Amino acid sequence: MNQSVIHIIKNITSANSSRSLLQRFIAYSFRQSIRCKFKRFGDRPVGESLKILDREYRTDEWTNIPDKVIDLIERHDPLYKTPGNPIYLIAESLRQHYTDFECFQFRDPVVTTWQNFDSILVPSDHVSRSKTDTFYVDKQHVLRSHTSAHQSECFKRLANTTKHQALNDPKFMIIGDVYRRDEVNRTHHAAFHQAEIVQLYSEQHCRMATTNLFDESNETRTDHCQERHNLNAIRIVENELKSQVESYIHLMFDSTDGDPIQMRWVPAYFPFTHPSWELEIQLPRNKSTNDNGEDLDKSEWLEMLGCGIVEQSILDRDGHSNRIGWALGFGLERLAMLYYAIPDIRLFWTRDTGFSVQFDRLKPFERYRYRPISAYPQKIFDIAFWLPAECSEWSANDVHAIILEIGGHLVEQAHLMDEWTRPKDGRKSNCYRIVYRSHERALTNDEVNRIHHRIEQALVKELNVEIR
Ligand code: DAH
Repeated sequence: MNQSVIHIIKNITSANSSRSLLQRFIAYSFRQSIRCKFKRFGDRPVGESLKILDREYRTDEWTNIPDKVIDLIERHDPLYKTPGNPIYLIAESLRQHYTDFECFQFRDPVVTTWQNFDSILVPSDHVSRSKTDTFYVDKQHVLRSHTSAHQSECFKRLANTTKHQALNDPKFMIIGDVYRRDEVNRTHHAAFHQAEIVQLYSEQHCRMATTNLFDESNETRTDHCQERHNLNAIRIVENELKSQVESYIHLMFDSTDGDPIQMRWVPAYFPFTHPSWELEIQLPRNKSTNDNGEDLDKSEWLEMLGCGIVEQSILDRDGHSNRIGWALGFGLERLAMLYYAIPDIRLFWTRDTGFSVQFDRLKPFERYRYRPISAYPQKIFDIAFWLPAECSEWSANDVHAIILEIGGHLVEQAHLMDEWTRPKDGRKSNCYRIVYRSHERALTNDEVNRIHHRIEQALVKELNVEIR
């Protein structure tokens, strides 16, 4: 793992081993209150119509969404649904790991302030509710600042279908784009992605058979347990939560030569869970060396997720008073940046094919290290040719070999774009697209033309094709 990537990702968080719970509470509040350089950016005249994904709102003194952010929302395909985007691959890896978890995706990120804050017990004077931290559509609507905003409606939806089915206790995940007012730099972006994963358990749940979920004589909340909860049951749920997360992190980050990743659970504060934890990881030795092979400081820990035991008042309210459960929230960008060594959060949004082509064919959990794309423009040229009449031995690999041999490092991508057979005589034609780009300079048309022409000549000579 490249040192600068670790350094950058560390900046997203500020994990510090020795923080007390109070300090973590303050850190939580502070983190939610992101310093915003352009506080008034996005303010609009009052009383105008504002359309987001075909729903219409009327601006008021709370509205603070810039057009650029609306463009991100209305982008044709959300990143988590776009194969070839690392966010999609990470989301898929979670779906594969958390099998049988129902997956909810709420395309529209506009939620009510009740959903975003009250439904998960965020205090009414909490800084995250301020206009400087959250994008307000109007006084009553915001862009969700976390996927936790949808917990309540998922609970309610599942309350009816799973009422009397212990073996069918709700397990679900919510994957979505979330928005926070923030400065934009390598580690911060107004839009990012989260996966909220939740599992509930009822008393009849087979593993729970030996213990009661509730202990009505338990009237006081401790650091380890909410009031009314039975500590033994909580320990089982806590253990399931943690072991599932740990096995995912091992799958993702253990080194290929068997060096396991180091993890630790640190007490944390979230308004909607108690007790709560954050998971911090320390990359294995061979991953935490810099490019010169020097070890990084092994005492540096990265914060990976927040989680905890769901506040019982939420479950009582949403139709699951006979259940207890855990919830967790992963940040998909952080996982992706770490897993693929992607140094800049803005890259996830690029339409540069030099980026997407690197992830197009990857499968979830397939290790890959991102290669930086050039800042110079691409030159896109096509070659169309007739295959030789006798082409039983034809192999596309030969075409690629010739393209790479002549184009060398100036070829960023080459792929078969079109195949066609002429009906009248069955003759086959191929069209290849070659994307040229240099890491050092902007290529000129003349220069690329010359290389392209030499590739054409070599294809004719070596493979006996006829240029069309
Ligand atoms: N909603 C939290 C955030 O955005 C993340 C989170 C923390 C989700 C703990 C959870 C949880 O479900 O239990 O910072």
